[in-house]
Amino acid sequence: MKILAIMGSPHKGNTYEVLERIEKQLKGYSNVDFEYIHLKDLDIKPCKGCFVCFLRGEEKCPLKDDVRSIASKMDEADGVIFATPVYSMHVSYLLKNFIDRISYNFHRPRYFGKYALNVVVTANMGMKDTLKYLSGLTLCWGFEQTGKLGYWMAPKNTTLRVFKKNKVNTEKEVEKFYRAIKENRKRKLTFIDYIMFHSTRAIFSKSGELSPTDYKYYNDKGWFDKKKKYFFDHIQHNPIKSGIARLMGIMMGRQLEKSLRKSGK
Ligand SMILES: Cc1cc2nc3c(=O)[nH]c(=O)nc-3n(C[C@H](O)[C@H](O)[C@H](O)COP(=O)(O)O)c2cc1C
Repeated sequence: MKILAIMGSPHKGNTYEVLERIEKQLKGYSNVDFEYIHLKDLDIKPCKGCFVCFLRGEEKCPLKDDVRSIASKMDEADGVIFATPVYSMHVSYLLKNFIDRISYNFHRPRYFGKYALNVVVTANMGMKDTLKYLSGLTLCWGFEQTGKLGYWMAPKNTTLRVFKKNKVNTEKEVEKFYRAIKENRKRKLTFIDYIMFHSTRAIFSKSGELSPTDYKYYNDKGWFDKKKKYFFDHIQHNPIKSGIARLMGIMMGRQLEKSLRKSGK
């Protein structure tokens, strides 16, 4: 089993300390290959905002650096750990910079059948919002989540202290993450999962001209097929949730068609 830990802290401080704990536990299980991606040590240029990756494909990005090789490692991993300190109430600049560079994943999700474990470390504020942000993002990219890990830790090498008690059960969450990957259970889809599927395919099925790369991606994967229930098939299907989301998708598609007609596109 391949686990990739994407380390968003610019130094080996608290976030790294937590990751080392997770690494130790995971390596204690059989057959775990654990790899760190220390974003601080890699060449990750800031996004130029050209939108080329969205419109023409990520391989056309004009920036040449380490992003493509990290993305390949993510493609190969069974589980990805996104770890960041809270800096100015959000993920670190290193992690945000990397997220921007692979944000074509919002249009062309690909991590179905893979798990994400989000790890956030803060001194005091911003944990809830940062975890929520990472949770929404990984969900949009296709990952399933088994839980989350948030910690209060005072900045290293300071006399500052934190007064909140960490209640998170690291061992239990890491075990859940490991078991989910190992057992490869069918994904139990939520209503939000179904909405994501039916709304995005409604949008992209009407956007062949506006967004040809996304259209092709959905088409090649068979996601426009009326019989398709979800992005991938290893699921516990819920016909009621699916039916309602399907109807919402159809309505959304019609609405989009109307506005495209009005704007002459
Ligand atoms: C630039 C910077 C900004 C920070 N912003 C926040 C913040 O918004 N809220 C907070 O509670 N702690 C903040 N902190 C404290 C860190 O989240 C906290 O000390 C964390 O444990 C650091 O993890 P690290 O050692 O991996 O960097 C900030 C620290 C730095 C260096």
